[in-house]
Parts: sequence; C-alpha cells; structure tokens
Amino acid sequence: MSRDFWEHRYQTQDMRWEKGEPSPGLVDFLATHPELPRGSVAVPGCGTGHDVRALVKAGFEGFGFDIAPSAIALAEEKTQIAGMFARFTLADFLHDEPPQKFDWVFEHTLFCAIQPSEREEYVRAVRRWLKPGGHYLAVNYFLCEPPGPPWPTTREELMERFTPHFELLAEWLPRSYESRTGKERMFWWVLADGHQRTAAIAKNS
Ligand SMILES: C[S@@+](CC[C@H](N)C(=O)[O-])C[C@H]1O[C@@H](n2cnc3c(N)ncnc32)[C@H](O)[C@@H]1O
Repeated sequence: MSRDFWEHRYQTQDMRWEKGEPSPGLVDFLATHPELPRGSVAVPGCGTGHDVRALVKAGFEGFGFDIAPSAIALAEEKTQIAGMFARFTLADFLHDEPPQKFDWVFEHTLFCAIQPSEREEYVRAVRRWLKPGGHYLAVNYFLCEPPGPPWPTTREELMERFTPHFELLAEWLPRSYESRTGKERMFWWVLADGHQRTAAIAKNS
C-alpha cells in the first residue's frame, strides 16, 4: 500500500491496529530471554512505537521506521513523553537502503500490511537490513478477515519464503491481544545467508 494510504489512515485516526501497548508476544519474549545479547534493533512499520519502547526498556538500542510521517511524529512524541530515547525515521522498509545494518529486526503487523505480491521484496529487505548472523523475530498474523490489509499468512508460506535464507531457532503460539488470541504465531529466525548455520536453540517450543 502507498505512503498516502497509510498517512491517510493516521490523519483520519482509522488505526484499528493501534492497541496502545506493545505486542504481548514481544513483552513475554523479552521477559523470558534476559540472557540474550542486546544490540541494535530495527522495527519496520513501527506505527506509534510501542514495540520500539518495549525493546529499549529491555536494553536494546531501538530504531523505528515507518512510511507514514504521522506515525513517526506520534512515535517521537510518545517516546519523549515516556522519558525514553529511541530513533524514529521515515523510511520505506521494502525499497530504502538501511541507514545501518542491525543486530535484530522485529516484525509486528508489517508483513500482513503490505500487498501479498510484495512479500518477496519484504524478505529481501529483512536480509538487507540485518547484519550477517542477525536475528529476525516476527509476530505473524495467521487469521484475519478479508479484505486486507491485513492479509493473512500461513506457516507453509513463511517456511517457503524464509528457510532459503534463515535458520529457524524457535516458533511458538504467543500470548496475544484479546482480539487476536489464537490468530498469531511467533517465529525466531537467524540470518544464515552465506554463513555457517548455527545449531538451533529450540524447536517448536
Ligand atoms: C498495521 S500498521 C502496524 C503498526 C505497528 N506495527 C503496530 O502493530 O501498532 C502497519 C504500519 O506499517 C507502516 N508501513 C506500511 N508499509 C510500509 C513500508 N513499506 N515501510 C515502512 N512502513 C510501512 C504503516 O504506515 C503502518 O504504520
């Protein structure tokens, strides 16, 4: 969808995805993995920045990116009010070059928000924005009503698109917002392009 489409959604306050809090699945992941090396994290399609702030609170260097200027303005405002620091930048994740390479990319309702025909570009973008061996943590939306956005995906589609380039470390059914309970699944991948594949930490937990 175009920048104008998303900007219009913010301008008219038609933001049904906006829950006023970070993804519960992300919150639980951060609480149960205090041992993980932190580093930089990019959140593409960050919206008003709830997930970025949760990541910063957990010790990450947080970078939010969004195609809609109003999302960036709201994210900056909310972060300032929270007394936190994160960088928010206007960017088209699918087509722009990253300002730097990141240790982590966190996905939450961007993969389902772009046109399904753009999903191959999305996979290329995750590979482009990550450092070699970087981590890609995703909360994927499996069940949503037509017409999109959001557009649903399946485990089969994700395996087909990501396994040529990423190693799956773990996947699980996360805690979700009430309205999405049972409709999401989380996947934790590591970029394996051109690098020796690491041993999986956990499978199907
Ligand atoms: C469904 S909203 C989700 C926002 C946020 N992740 C959340 O869950 O609250 C999708 C977001 O992705 C942004 N977006 C859409 N296409 C994008 C692109 N190509 N690059 C960066 N952001 C994009 C939209 O402006 C919007 O803020």
